[in-house]
Amino acid sequence: MIFYFDKISSTMDIAHILANKGYPHGTVIVAEEQTQGRGRFKRKWHSPKGGLWFSIIFRPENLKTIKAGFLGIIIGFSVLKTLESFLKDIKLNFKWPNDIEYEGKKVAGILLESVYEKELEYIIAGIGINLQVDPEEIKDLKAFSLKNYITIPDKNILLLEILKELEKNLDNFPNNWKAIFEFYKNKFPYIGKEAIIKNKNSKAKVIDITEDGGIVLSINKKIERYEWGGVSLEFE
Ligand code: BTN
Repeated sequence: MIFYFDKISSTMDIAHILANKGYPHGTVIVAEEQTQGRGRFKRKWHSPKGGLWFSIIFRPENLKTIKAGFLGIIIGFSVLKTLESFLKDIKLNFKWPNDIEYEGKKVAGILLESVYEKELEYIIAGIGINLQVDPEEIKDLKAFSLKNYITIPDKNILLLEILKELEKNLDNFPNNWKAIFEFYKNKFPYIGKEAIIKNKNSKAKVIDITEDGGIVLSINKKIERYEWGGVSLEFE
């Protein structure tokens, strides 16, 4: 089921309300515009008209053995793969954990919010793509709009293609994991690079990405491992 809204606070808010009411795995909420779009680490996510802003409800009983780290990467993979099939001239890459970038500027971001009671009740994934956003609107945000590069005029077709790709990749897990992980690593140009850990205000060097979606960093010559999304990295 897909719910469309013109202008709302955030598709995450509506997704939580619907998940609490019992709406099933796979429910999708899309908005033309969000007034309080949010990103990882409580950052504001600028969501003007022209973007593709949506959230999906996931129920653990439908996720087999897929944990948040895998889910984030499978979503990122599905979004990047679908986008690239409609792009001319440019190639995208990942920035761990799940930003999709073009030349160091953000094209898309993914946010996962898990809700536990006694155990995991549901996960909401929020996906934001600067698809047909006016490039002027986001030029100060280290963000990049695909407006002049995307060959598909209809946002809704793209959404359906992403959902189809995602469903296929979730269904095939874990048989496809190795291939997805390899693809992800090949599209991650930051191994060996220096980074700033934004939420800790320290420097680090990226050593590797782990097979469960985590990252290995060297911080003051000490090796540390973080789970999917556990730190926020910025590269020069
Ligand atoms: C990030 O990179 O920090 C994640 C950004 C996620 C943005 C999307 S847009 C749709 C959904 N609704 C929100 O308020 N946030 C997510």
